[in-house]
Amino acid sequence: MDKLGVVGCGLMGAGIAEVSARAGLDVVVVESSVLAADAGRKRLERSLQRAEAKGKIDSADEVLSRIRLETTVDAMADREIVIEAIVEDEQAKADLFSRLDKVVEAPDAILASNTSSIPIMKLGVVTNRPENVVGIHFFNPVPVLKLVEIVPSLLTSPEVTERARALVEGRLGKQAIDCQDRAGFVVNALLIPFILSAIRMLESGFASPEDIDRGLVLGAAHPQGPLALADLIGLDTTKAVADSLYEEFKEPLYAAPPLLLRMVDAGLLGRKAGRGFYTY
Ligand code: NAI
Repeated sequence: MDKLGVVGCGLMGAGIAEVSARAGLDVVVVESSVLAADAGRKRLERSLQRAEAKGKIDSADEVLSRIRLETTVDAMADREIVIEAIVEDEQAKADLFSRLDKVVEAPDAILASNTSSIPIMKLGVVTNRPENVVGIHFFNPVPVLKLVEIVPSLLTSPEVTERARALVEGRLGKQAIDCQDRAGFVVNALLIPFILSAIRMLESGFASPEDIDRGLVLGAAHPQGPLALADLIGLDTTKAVADSLYEEFKEPLYAAPPLLLRMVDAGLLGRKAGRGFYTY
């Protein structure tokens, strides 16, 4: 596989485009508007310039030359694999998959989603090729974290799952784990209730954000505390993932606490907004 497409150039899409271009693939990224594409390009440039300054790559420009930014899904026509990384919204993703199904020409092209929590089956069934639809779930920051969850739906062909694994392990240098098609897969099904518990703890006045986070860093050897991690993930994404988990399992531990809802309403989305549980 050489021709890879990414839809969405936010936190995750930019990271997926970066690691793919660094691995020598030809990458086309589609954003929803010229403004968003410009922001995506800046995100990519900043990250690649940091990688160059740290000596991790020879030339940011050389990697950037393998990435083309576009603003229409039609640009995905010749791709061998497309990885969707748009907002965590089931309807938005279903609309996109239905469109990709019409646009992407090769009948064996893989249509993948980086969703954190939406069942892959929901995206497969809106296409005429559900056997080619698979979850390829990267972790943030994509250039740094090794893990990828590979999520076939009940209808995904084993051959497609194997090609997805070969791409992420063979070409992109990641390590894959296999997960069943259940909201949250392995990591978020464990991580999100943990983050929500920390938010409930803060909400009840039990401890300050700094002390909650310091507790987990110093007492459980976590690289960062749960509130700092929520800020990194984005509070809108954290809420969306919690909502999908709650919808799937109907367990209170997945219910987003009011403080999280109010912060999302207020636009306090974490690092990407400059303010969340902390100010950046
Ligand atoms: P984000 O909000 O940073 O980026 C989403 C991007 O998609 C935005 O730039 C937006 O303009 C673009 N977009 C929205 N609709 C579009 C469309 N129809 N066509 C083209 N572009 C469109 O979100 P983020 O954090 O990158 O999340 C993207 C996906 O990755 C979500 O499904 C999320 O659950 C998943 N994910 C997020 C992680 C995180 O830590 N933030 C970790 C792993 C997965």
